[in-house]
Amino acid sequence: MSSQNPERVKVLEDGPYEVSGNVPLNQLNLVPDAEGACVEYAKQKDYEDQPVYHLCRCGMSNDKPYCDGSHYHGFESRETAEHKTYDEMAGFIQGEQIDLLDAEILCAVGRFCDTNGTTWDLVKDKDNPKIKDIVIDQCCKCPSGRLTAVTKYGQRIEPRLPKEISVLEDPDCQVRGPIWVKGGIIIEDAEGGIYPVRNRVTLCRCGKSQNKPFCDARHMDNEGETAQESDDISLL
Ligand code: FES
Repeated sequence: MSSQNPERVKVLEDGPYEVSGNVPLNQLNLVPDAEGACVEYAKQKDYEDQPVYHLCRCGMSNDKPYCDGSHYHGFESRETAEHKTYDEMAGFIQGEQIDLLDAEILCAVGRFCDTNGTTWDLVKDKDNPKIKDIVIDQCCKCPSGRLTAVTKYGQRIEPRLPKEISVLEDPDCQVRGPIWVKGGIIIEDAEGGIYPVRNRVTLCRCGKSQNKPFCDARHMDNEGETAQESDDISLL
């Protein structure tokens, strides 16, 4: 990373996200199991490398994931998220073999926490020797970083993530998911303030979040939106 040209996502007032610093961009699909819980990500495509690009955050672009100016028709763009650190947002949940940090406000409904029973139930298990690994896997796949696994020695388990951005698609629910910003990329608000930097962040791209610029899962209100569309989403 160049200190003169660090990777950055800038929220533009009443407009898109401006991404600078040569940040790679790709599309990932959420891959569900038979019960609808998600188990992995499947890469669908890499977008062309560009030093600077603009990602739609209003949900109205006809050139998603890029902005095409459709936001000029107006959308409720105001940032409402507080500039809180993860520790200020997260509650501590004591488990038997492993503990959790849980910042519910960040939930983007990735559904990785629903495999094998929910993460919150699994941490109550005293006996199953596989529980720790399952919970760590669930928490590390959580795109928004809502959940963090914490060992009984107090070590937080974070996945190693590259500095890149993925637009998430959720073919099972036929919705477009959020923008997944990985690897500690700086996110700057419209007034130039910097949000606390995190390893994994999900940004709203449907325009409906009440916690802008972060995703609050309101895209799930659009369930079925892509059913009639086959333009830029690849259904598995
Ligand atoms: S933010 Fe520009 S088209 Fe959506």
